[in-house]
Amino acid sequence: MSVPAERWSLQKAELNEEQFMRWRTLLEDRTGMQLSIERKSFLETSLNIRMREIGCTSYDTYYEKLMSGLAGEVEWATLVDRLTVQETSFFRHPSSYELVRNYCTKLYKEQGRKHIELWSVGCATGEEPYSLAMLMDDLVSQQSDRRYYGITATDISLPALSKAREGVYNIRKLERVDQRYSQLYFESHERGRCRVVPRLKDRVCFAQINVLDLRQAPVQNVDVVFCQNLLIYFQGWRKKDIVTHLAERLAPGGIMVLGVGEVLDWQRPDMERFQYKDTLAFIKRNHS
Ligand SMILES: C[S@@+](CC[C@H](N)C(=O)[O-])C[C@H]1O[C@@H](n2cnc3c(N)ncnc32)[C@H](O)[C@@H]1O
Repeated sequence: MSVPAERWSLQKAELNEEQFMRWRTLLEDRTGMQLSIERKSFLETSLNIRMREIGCTSYDTYYEKLMSGLAGEVEWATLVDRLTVQETSFFRHPSSYELVRNYCTKLYKEQGRKHIELWSVGCATGEEPYSLAMLMDDLVSQQSDRRYYGITATDISLPALSKAREGVYNIRKLERVDQRYSQLYFESHERGRCRVVPRLKDRVCFAQINVLDLRQAPVQNVDVVFCQNLLIYFQGWRKKDIVTHLAERLAPGGIMVLGVGEVLDWQRPDMERFQYKDTLAFIKRNHS
């Protein structure tokens, strides 16, 4: 029988200052995320739940386990999923999607583009890339001749990616999805759940990429980088570094759509602000 998280949290041992710093540093070094002292209790609860699952009795033993070669790496993949915030929803920030739709309409109609590549960075359980896929599929269906699109969706969390690949959601998650889209792109599944139709799912390629390792990321020449509600967890200098690496992956003329207010004072000579109401976006100049 599983025990509710609140009960564990009542019984958990406290991390002393040194231990907290050690865990905080580990998380920041490996994911870039900053854990404030206010989230100490969240860290303790998450660690305790996982430690009990695997029968580990102290924070220090668990830490050593995480440092121990391949087994440690496997364990890290589970823990990182527990420590990251994966809150998401379909069409979470409507203006950002509107911007993408307008921009891609121009690429197809005015520039005669046949194919558009998009990248959802920090895609969590898939709602974001499937929202992009719905709007792109709709757009493609309105063109007079065949047009194509592809979406790469990446995240650090393997369990989140596995849910995303499955594409099965509680029906309540469709509340903010236009009815026409929910009818076109979802089919009913068991027990109040629905499933993304294969035609849409096939357009999205999921992969694990840590945004701290973007130098090794095999994604290039994309027309749209969509990165929302991820940079908020990083320190200023690190945010700027990540945004710079993302900008490098854009094709000339491509856009990068970030969450409003998520990065301040960032600039690059080959990028300029792309103005659209209630959004934060940049466009890569065609010739720098
Ligand atoms: C709050 S969710 C945002 C989901 C979606 N972009 C949205 O706006 O609804 C943040 C996501 O970033 C992922 N994440 C955290 N650190 C990461 C890292 N270093 N590299 C890649 N993804 C990361 C988390 O696993 C989580 O799925």
